[in-house]
Amino acid sequence: MDDRASELKRRVGAAAAELVEDGMVVGLGTGSTADCMIDSLGVRVQAGLRCIGIPSSVRSGERARALGIEIGSFASHPEIDLTIDGADEVERGTLNLVKGLGGALLREKIVAAASRRMVVVADQGKLVDRLGEHTPVPVEVSSFGWEAAALRLGRLGARVSPRRDRQGGLFVTDGGNMILDCAFGPIEDAAGAEAAIRAIVGVFESGLFVGRATLALVAGPGGIVRYEAG
Ligand code: A5P
Repeated sequence: MDDRASELKRRVGAAAAELVEDGMVVGLGTGSTADCMIDSLGVRVQAGLRCIGIPSSVRSGERARALGIEIGSFASHPEIDLTIDGADEVERGTLNLVKGLGGALLREKIVAAASRRMVVVADQGKLVDRLGEHTPVPVEVSSFGWEAAALRLGRLGARVSPRRDRQGGLFVTDGGNMILDCAFGPIEDAAGAEAAIRAIVGVFESGLFVGRATLALVAGPGGIVRYEAG
């Protein structure tokens, strides 16, 4: 990542961390932009802010804990006040999202669904007119019988590739599942696509997040622009 991109992520992460109020239960997203938010939240916690973080991945939980952020669980906090997370694509107008290129999509969606508000942090390169324009839709599936789910996802019109890890083996999520990256191209009906994907047996969740984000903070060279869901 070049210095300019890192700086944009740091700025938008810091702006999002400012939205956290004393006493909140906060969903902690996953990815490089969410990491920047966690770092800024850690600075606020070290200065006296009280909050409880519910992480969407092992990685984010470890990062937050190392910074002194108290980590809670769904057992004690089944409702989350505010979740702040990154995205791979943000649809202009709707704020529907593609998420999961970082591999945390099922936990991210569970955290988002338990949240009263979800704020997305991104740089302007993530804005698209239609989801699927630039990225595949990651779909988290059972490793048992994944080939059958892949066949059905293909019949929905996707080019399907099992996610690989750096060693070339099948990628395994924090929950022990697999990810199928499904290239659909531009998606006209994100809600319909989300429902059709979820209806396939063996699919746990897709990386289509429809109607979940309430606000997006988008960083560009001119500063941070706020977009509210229309
Ligand atoms: C993690 O699984 C993803 O949903 C991330 O939120 C997404 O990939 C954005 O990551 P970056 O902020 O690193 O681009």
